[in-house]
Amino acid sequence: MKANKENPRSQLGDSVDPRLVPHRQLYTGARMPAIGLGTFGSDHASPVEIAEAVKGAASVGYRHFDCASVYGNEDRIGAALQEIMKGGVGREELWIASKLWNDKHGEEEVIPSCQKSLADLKLDYLDMYLVHWPFPNYHPPHCDVTSRSPNAKPYIHEGFMKTWRQMEMLVDRGLVRHIGTSNMTIPKLQLLLRDARIKPAVNEMELHPHFQQPELFEFVRRHGIEPIGYCPVGSPARPERDRTPEDTVDIEDPVMVKIAKRLGVHPAVVCVKWAVQRGQTPIPFSTKREHYLSNLQGVVSEPLTDNEMKEIAGIDRNCRLIKGQVFLWKDGQTWEDLWDVSGEITPP
Ligand SMILES: NC(=O)c1ccc[n+]([C@@H]2O[C@H](COP(=O)([O-])OP(=O)(O)OC[C@H]3O[C@@H](n4cnc5c(N)ncnc54)[C@H](OP(=O)(O)O)[C@@H]3O)[C@@H](O)[C@H]2O)c1
Repeated sequence: MKANKENPRSQLGDSVDPRLVPHRQLYTGARMPAIGLGTFGSDHASPVEIAEAVKGAASVGYRHFDCASVYGNEDRIGAALQEIMKGGVGREELWIASKLWNDKHGEEEVIPSCQKSLADLKLDYLDMYLVHWPFPNYHPPHCDVTSRSPNAKPYIHEGFMKTWRQMEMLVDRGLVRHIGTSNMTIPKLQLLLRDARIKPAVNEMELHPHFQQPELFEFVRRHGIEPIGYCPVGSPARPERDRTPEDTVDIEDPVMVKIAKRLGVHPAVVCVKWAVQRGQTPIPFSTKREHYLSNLQGVVSEPLTDNEMKEIAGIDRNCRLIKGQVFLWKDGQTWEDLWDVSGEITPP
């Protein structure tokens, strides 16, 4: 399906013209769509369903897809991308991100891992390649939060820089256009910014109304790094292992419910609207057309009022959902140790 090139406002049924979707300009000058589709199935959506959602999302106007080798579905998504391009969407119109998994930080492993993602996604280059987590610790898929790798390591900056040098090489070789980080903290990013030859273009981080991370958000923007917001809806269908009794529910917050009622939308749509309007790039996941379409429509429709933006700023609960317990490297630690809450990198 192609939109009318003469008239970007033309709508194909209820779909959204991608030219109407806001973009973020990266420090390289590249333009990244300010909303993407997440592709992690949270252990319940199958690769086939997710590949269908990618095709469906492209047909309603999405051009940005957040992938990762660990999601176990890049080969299916690759077939979907082929169909999307055969249908008339040019490669340059798409923004495809993938991520290096934690057991592939070794100097010899970074480039082959990226090549595997490229082969699975059936692409010549990626728009963005991220280091998924700053910890080089393997743990098996679907494992419990109490699972620990016997070889678990803390963040060692020299080790991370060895990985980052290979990431830079991917840019030099033209396999990826940009590189970025995910799940970083301010002190870790400060070291990376000091030592990187090619600085990260984005930092993917958990961001939703109950977890706004204002300091990290401001830090990355001040340094010309675009924040990508994961779990933008508060990940209501996340796996059991990522739930604790203290977790709060963004889409049940009275402020979100009130605004959703005013707009006649689901509170999830308000989460996504708020994210784009605040300045991050949310990557909501859904396999349901009605949901991914309403999220996209939300970002091209009437903005939230200044007062609503203020009200949402006021409901931050500092509620991190993806705590990362499996990365802890020694006994007696709590998940806060992974996030350098003291302002300094937690000592080994
Ligand atoms: N870098 C990292 O370490 C990292 C970590 C976690 C996630 N991610 C990325 O971030 C993406 C998003 O995170 P997530 O999937 O955990 O959480 P999320 O996007 O906050 O939540 C997804 C859930 O919200 C529901 N939803 C979405 N839009 C909706 C709507 N308009 N109305 C009603 N329900 C709606 C979906 O249900 P339905 O499917 O029923 O619509 C789905 O269950 C992932 O897919 C992945 O790409 C990255």
